[in-house]
Amino acid sequence: MANRETFGSNKVAILAMAGSAIGLGNIWRFPYMVGQNGGAAFIIIYIISCFLLAVPILMSETIIGHRTHQNTFGAMKTLAPGTKWSLLGLLAVVSPFIIMSYYSVVGGWSIDFLYKSVFEGFKIADGQLQGTSFGSFISSTWGPIICHTIFSLLCVVIVSAGVKSGIEKFNKICMPVLFILIIFILIFSVSLPGASAGIDYMLKPDFSKITGPIVASAVGQSFFSLSLGVGTILIYSSYIKSKENILNSGIGTTAFDLMFALLAGFAVMPAVFAAGIEPGAGPGLIFETLPFIFAKMGFGIPWISSVVAIFFFLAVVFAALTSAISMYEAIVAYFVEEKNMSRRKATLLVFFGTWFLGLFCSLSFGPLSHIKIMNLSIFDFCDKFTSNFLMTIGGLLFVIFAGWKMKKQEVWEEFTGSGKYKFNCKIFNAFYFILKFIAPIGVGVVFLSNFI
Ligand code: PHE
Repeated sequence: MANRETFGSNKVAILAMAGSAIGLGNIWRFPYMVGQNGGAAFIIIYIISCFLLAVPILMSETIIGHRTHQNTFGAMKTLAPGTKWSLLGLLAVVSPFIIMSYYSVVGGWSIDFLYKSVFEGFKIADGQLQGTSFGSFISSTWGPIICHTIFSLLCVVIVSAGVKSGIEKFNKICMPVLFILIIFILIFSVSLPGASAGIDYMLKPDFSKITGPIVASAVGQSFFSLSLGVGTILIYSSYIKSKENILNSGIGTTAFDLMFALLAGFAVMPAVFAAGIEPGAGPGLIFETLPFIFAKMGFGIPWISSVVAIFFFLAVVFAALTSAISMYEAIVAYFVEEKNMSRRKATLLVFFGTWFLGLFCSLSFGPLSHIKIMNLSIFDFCDKFTSNFLMTIGGLLFVIFAGWKMKKQEVWEEFTGSGKYKFNCKIFNAFYFILKFIAPIGVGVVFLSNFI
């Protein structure tokens, strides 16, 4: 691994990991999952899951990646030679592949909205009408496919440039922009007439509606949002220099990601109620709600709404790209390091594979909507299968590996940079207990609750 690239500094690594975590999962998926699963109670389970289950998995992946400086498959082979653990490394190549295929369809929708905000603007403040026009867009054949293709090609351009020039530079710009715009939209959204019902929906839990599958969805959402169980955190950690402190990246990523999800939720949900849109509308929720927000904004000063819409969708596309490239990277690194493929060839391979599978996901809203897998459309199946199933299994296995297969001393060494950084022994022991017992049992139970 003599020529393996690394991130320039720890700060850059945090930014890259946060870039992977913060994406459509926060802005698009979180609000619609909240809406489909009953509001505040879902959010509470989500937050608990972030700290109790997701952080231990995130740290497990970070430790494994940073200790080996290898791709997911190579890392497992090095730490557990001659065992079946290398299959976990392979799972972490297959999972991002499936996620990427439908993720880039939604990335494509964002590109379409960016196009609309530049060339048409959002002028009609009518929730029902927005729903119909979005519905007819995603169920058409060519528009969504063209946008999915553009999104996938953008990923190829960035990933083939490599870690330093491609991924690093890209992450630095878009996170702060997105942050400022979401706060701006949130302030506007909560001040809309009728918004208070949405705020109540986000804050007043009704636990009587919570079922096994809803818990599984909340936990799945926390894994999806933090990019867990599918090797992306592992691969990014493998690019952190040996001597760097990896703790910051784990804590920083979780904090940023959670904050973004909550901000997006509070920016979208009050407007959903103000517009009279059905909160359980599903994957189209934000694409139906945001045009309403922007159109309303325009009543006073039209150009403000256009400027906000353009920058907002630009930032959403960027955020989606920084997440997408982390999925690419996990797969590409495998082909480059294990199969001796050139970076460019591996990137193209991932492009064609995910693009092709993505076609079916895109068409499943229209011409292929009659095809159902376990009662779900192709898109919904890929989405649910990965977040509720593959990510949970991947997360469970990573945490078991770090807690039971690796030695406590090895985990301690990673926490302290082999003695370079101070770390409180008691806090470490508490964390180790969660890593070894609470997280695996918790994730295991959640995994089983899928079937209740
Ligand atoms: N966490 C990303 C988001 O919130 C999605 C993602 C999932 C990225 C899995 C990488 C791996 O948008």
